[in-house]
Amino acid sequence: MSAEPLELSGRRALVTGASRGIGRGIALELAAAGADVAVNYRRGEEAAEAVVAAIVAGGRRAVALQASVGELDELDGLAARAGEELGPIDLLVLSAGIASRGDDIASTDPAELQRVVATHALGAHRLTQLLLPGMRKAPRGDVIAISSSELTAMRARGAPYNMAKAALEAMILTLAHEEAGNGIHANIVAPGLVVTDMGSKLVKAKLGLDDISELDGDQPFGRLCRPEDIGRTVRFLASPATTMVTGQRLVVDGGTDASPTG
Ligand SMILES: NC(=O)c1ccc[n+]([C@@H]2O[C@H](COP(=O)([O-])OP(=O)(O)OC[C@H]3O[C@@H](n4cnc5c(N)ncnc54)[C@H](OP(=O)(O)O)[C@@H]3O)[C@@H](O)[C@H]2O)c1
Repeated sequence: MSAEPLELSGRRALVTGASRGIGRGIALELAAAGADVAVNYRRGEEAAEAVVAAIVAGGRRAVALQASVGELDELDGLAARAGEELGPIDLLVLSAGIASRGDDIASTDPAELQRVVATHALGAHRLTQLLLPGMRKAPRGDVIAISSSELTAMRARGAPYNMAKAALEAMILTLAHEEAGNGIHANIVAPGLVVTDMGSKLVKAKLGLDDISELDGDQPFGRLCRPEDIGRTVRFLASPATTMVTGQRLVVDGGTDASPTG
């Protein structure tokens, strides 16, 4: 008998940047599907513990793990602790991210470029590398990166973010080629504008709006994407519904380029 299409029972997930926003939505959705979840955070300990409490209340195992994904030497500990607490991780979701400051290339601080690329891409590479040996032994492995629909536009004053997401996507698409023989799927979810702290700050900076949900009425489906919309897509990509899907980039933007700069 085949497994339920969107069921993730028995899976052990690590979601980076899961204390808030999209990562939080993904962690909650994976747990609702039956997965145990390691909730990585950088500064938001209380918020991460609240995510853990919600997952545990729903009957799954969960643990909050502090580490900055931009600091490569913190990732050995993160990978090891996730494995110790939950068992070998077979589902890695790379969601932790930061916006760049909006400077053009001529005036970008090299340290800013380094920070943004390290957070989105270099840390993602290292964490994936650390978890691959365990994942290869699992019946199925998944690495899913949260990129951005913005990437295809390559807008002015976005070089650090654009470069970081391009590198992240390159890593995932390469991984799909390298690890299919080991039963590991590697896919990209590219959200449009999502209602989170990052999305709200972007809308405030670009459009001067204090409340991002003021944009809901302009959207094809009558609202912007919420973290749970991205969570459901990640659940789908990690599920038995996608046994032969790898190396794909799925845009989740509610049917439009919802960018305030668009
Ligand atoms: N919101 C959007 O419109 C949108 C659109 C497309 C793509 N994305 C992408 O989606 C991902 C999540 O964005 P979001 O909107 O949810 O952002 P957010 O609301 O600002 O939340 C960011 C999350 O990432 C964590 N984080 C940041 N730096 C970290 C680091 N160095 N190490 C570990 N965790 C770190 C934060 O943890 P702490 O709070 O604990 O520090 C927080 O949990 C990002 O990769 C972003 O580029 C967002």
